[in-house]
Amino acid sequence: MRATENFSKTDIYLTSQTGKMKGKIANKPIFSALPLEFIFGLFLGMPGMTAYVGFYEICAPKKGEYVFVSAASGAVGQLVGQFAKLCGCYVVGSAGTKEKVDLLKNKFGFDEAFNYKEEQDLEAALKRLA
Ligand SMILES: NC(=O)c1ccc[n+]([C@@H]2O[C@H](COP(=O)([O-])OP(=O)(O)OC[C@H]3O[C@@H](n4cnc5c(N)ncnc54)[C@H](OP(=O)(O)O)[C@@H]3O)[C@@H](O)[C@H]2O)c1
Repeated sequence: MRATENFSKTDIYLTSQTGKMKGKIANKPIFSALPLEFIFGLFLGMPGMTAYVGFYEICAPKKGEYVFVSAASGAVGQLVGQFAKLCGCYVVGSAGTKEKVDLLKNKFGFDEAFNYKEEQDLEAALKRLA
């Protein structure tokens, strides 16, 4: 990750080491509301970078879309779910215990969550919850 040359005092940019992926991140919804040190905490860590690039750059979410996050209580999944909520998506997550399911709904703000070990049919679970 390195800064590009063309940034102003108030902008934050990220690029991959190959330069193939780059973007001004200051205009993403999450960043306008957060202190700078929190932003660096998210992006200097591999899980934060993985969640950010995977969700914003590859999934390219739009407001109102439905997002399903598996392994949602893990390091990457919990960030993806929160990014998705900040984008105005409807977010369903799956995890392997009741405690994790509660955490997703009550702490991380997922709209719905379920224990994948208690479901026979993933498609039916998603139809029920989304
Ligand atoms: N962390 C990184 O920097 C990074 C970078 C690149 C790629 N990745 C990939 O991103 C994925 C998640 O990584 P992470 O760091 O978030 O991992 P993590 O924090 O270790 O969480 C992984 C979660 O996967 C869930 N899980 C385990 N077996 C499962 C199964 N059979 N079906 C569904 N869920 C299962 C577990 O939750 P339950 O107890 O709820 O099952 C566990 O909390 C992995 O595939 C990893 O290789 C991670």
